[in-house]
Amino acid sequence: MISAPGPNALGYNGLTERRDGLPAHTYYDPGHFALELQRIWHRNWLYAGRSAELARPGDYRTFEFGDQRALLVRDADGELRGFHDTCRHRGAALCREARGRFGAAGIVCPYHAWVYSLRGDLLRTSSKSHGSGFDPADHSLYPVRVMEWNGFMFAAFAADAPPLQANFDQPLDRMDAWPLRDLVVGHVFTKTMFCNWKVFWENYNECLHCPGVHPRLSQLVPIFGRALLEQKDDPDWSRQPDEDPKYRGGLRQGAATWSMDGAATGSVFPRVSEEDRRIGHVYMTSLPSVFIVGHVDYVRVVRLRPLAPEMTEINVEYLFAPQTLADPHVDLHNIVEFTNLVMTEDAQICELNQRGLHAAPHAHGVLMPEEYMIAQFHDWVLAELSRC
Ligand code: FES
Ligand SMILES: [Fe+2]
Repeated sequence: MISAPGPNALGYNGLTERRDGLPAHTYYDPGHFALELQRIWHRNWLYAGRSAELARPGDYRTFEFGDQRALLVRDADGELRGFHDTCRHRGAALCREARGRFGAAGIVCPYHAWVYSLRGDLLRTSSKSHGSGFDPADHSLYPVRVMEWNGFMFAAFAADAPPLQANFDQPLDRMDAWPLRDLVVGHVFTKTMFCNWKVFWENYNECLHCPGVHPRLSQLVPIFGRALLEQKDDPDWSRQPDEDPKYRGGLRQGAATWSMDGAATGSVFPRVSEEDRRIGHVYMTSLPSVFIVGHVDYVRVVRLRPLAPEMTEINVEYLFAPQTLADPHVDLHNIVEFTNLVMTEDAQICELNQRGLHAAPHAHGVLMPEEYMIAQFHDWVLAELSRC
């Protein structure tokens, strides 16, 4: 039985009261999904990829988040620009492919060949004349806000999206010891999960499932094997031995990173602090679309895209120092196999979670003390939904 924290539980993280989960229908109802797209996904900054993907003028990528598709393009001055992928004539999509490079002419609509500059200005229509009242200046591409931070591109469909910092749970300089801007993608893993996007974030926010679902990870990070994320998730934390990683948190003795054997690969980041090395992972979460994890030798960027009420895409980018990827002796397998294992375990358990949510008597779940971060996530979801 779990008791309320006693006098030694100073700083205890856990919930001290029973709390209901979100209503079950919010994980599969199409109407609610549409509301979440509108009020959550289309109002906040969303991770759209690495800046290096759009290195040269004219390089573009499109990103679909729900029913909205953003077109990100590098303009002639090297500025990142964002638009809806929609022609102002009769609304055709401008891009047949998800990525490519616009030629010297600019952005040419494939339907009737209206031409736009890389800044989104309408340069030419294909009509012999323009009727009175038609002004090309009124027909620039619909803007989407974009920004770059440390080599990451973000897009926001709403003009009033909060500052990027508001989407992050950590100060934006939390990972300044990692050379984020210079890192290069060495591997990508993409998977479609048959679950609602919130199911994924809930699973991300607790470790009650770790001993059963992640036996291998629980050996590498022994406190996970106790179903806890960190030291103060235990009401008795102050009475536990302080040095043992099983209680204190962090990597097992002798391990340096998240990999099959715990060994680091290639160049390690020299400015990472002793404490962050001991812990072995530094997380920065930007709801609703991405989390970034810094390890001593690589950075993992995990992006979510909601595809349907019960379908979510997960995309994992592995970033390394350029010299690591340039080294012909380096084998990324040790890292990639480990984290793909963990993420696949999570994806499978999320799908199992989703499958059970439809039971007619199941109005909602219940949060246990260790699930305090899910409670915070639910508070955020509810606050976003109530923002008009
Ligand atoms: S819809 Fe684009 S030119 Fe007609
Ligand atoms: Fe997990």
